[in-house]
Amino acid sequence: MANPSVLVSGSCGLIGSEVATYFARQGFRIVGIDSNHRAVFFGPEGDTSWTRERLLRDIPGYRHEPLDIRNREGLRSLMREVRPNLIIHTAAQPSHDRAAEIPFLDFEVNAVGTLNMLEAAREFCPEAPFIHMSTNKVYGDRPNTIALRELESRWDYADPAYAHGIPEDFSIDQSKHSIFGVSKVAGDVMVQEYGRYHGMPTCCLRGGCLTGPNHSGVELHGFLSYLIKCNVDAREYRIYGYKGKQVRDNIHSEDVARFMFEFWKAPRVAEVYNLGGGKQNACSILEAFEITQAVTGKPMRSKYVDENRIGDHICYYSDLRKMQVHYPAWRITKPLRAIFEEIAESWLERLANRRSGRTGACG
Ligand SMILES: NC(=O)c1ccc[n+]([C@@H]2O[C@H](COP(=O)([O-])OP(=O)(O)OC[C@H]3O[C@@H](n4cnc5c(N)ncnc54)[C@H](O)[C@@H]3O)[C@@H](O)[C@H]2O)c1
Repeated sequence: MANPSVLVSGSCGLIGSEVATYFARQGFRIVGIDSNHRAVFFGPEGDTSWTRERLLRDIPGYRHEPLDIRNREGLRSLMREVRPNLIIHTAAQPSHDRAAEIPFLDFEVNAVGTLNMLEAAREFCPEAPFIHMSTNKVYGDRPNTIALRELESRWDYADPAYAHGIPEDFSIDQSKHSIFGVSKVAGDVMVQEYGRYHGMPTCCLRGGCLTGPNHSGVELHGFLSYLIKCNVDAREYRIYGYKGKQVRDNIHSEDVARFMFEFWKAPRVAEVYNLGGGKQNACSILEAFEITQAVTGKPMRSKYVDENRIGDHICYYSDLRKMQVHYPAWRITKPLRAIFEEIAESWLERLANRRSGRTGACG
């Protein structure tokens, strides 16, 4: 196929921009959709205009559509015109904590917006692989019911059944999800259904902590990016509960894009994968402080708030074995320390530019 096209929703976000850049390097024509709703959700600190400018500058032929995925007719006419060979859906209201204040907007974007994308794809390009960014929050707080052991700087699973992390057949039912978790469950199950019911090659990637130097981390979304930003900018970081020993698995956005490329080469129907850094890239907040300080040489300022975020996982890391069986060519290429270094370098540069007034809003 000569120059296949990919439609990327949320193309100015962390994952969307990485995907656009990565697939352009693989010879794809890129059509990006982004309405800059991140600035609506998080204010000026979440503004992604700087990323749109970067994509327009760096990707030859990049086409940007400032379309809102809630606009069903707009999506239909774009899908009819482009008929992409691949669809990667990353547009979302991504914050667990923010959703409770904006429940209608959250659901309209995450659940109905996903249905709009699926239905337009079914109508005009049902054979195109449809890759959806889901989240580990679909498991609600059920991972917190697994027996844990407390180590010096982190929690870990005490139950040997989870020695490799959380697998895809873990229940998503009857637990507290947060309003965000529910809108994402709706999108996730609908994407699976367009596979099972309509036979489309769909895939849900239930992300752990997806991160990288392009993240516009804010307190309510983008844990590692925000933590490192606080360090380089000498801001105070607030730890919410669990003694700061809560564990997250971190994956570089480029490794996410690399997995999507493998799926494109050998698509399957109605698949679900837990996509995080896995055990090897997991760390607690306390451990993240240590690594950040070692990387930047700056002290971490923090405040402990003795109340955890509602539904927050105490320990979560993804079991990557299913992905590795289905796609043996894929693996994590960016270890934890390298991720920290790239993020720190990016924040140092962005904050220096901001102080000298050289770029647009980037937080
Ligand atoms: N970053 C993480 O740690 C993480 C973890 C698990 C899952 N995910 C999932 O991955 C996906 C991408 O996350 P991200 O971190 O890149 O988020 P992001 O906020 O960086 O990117 C999302 C992009 O979508 C755009 N957008 C939002 N609503 C839109 C709308 N109605 N129409 C068009 N564009 C819209 C935003 O402006 C933003 O640029 C989301 O589905 C998120 O739930 C992310």
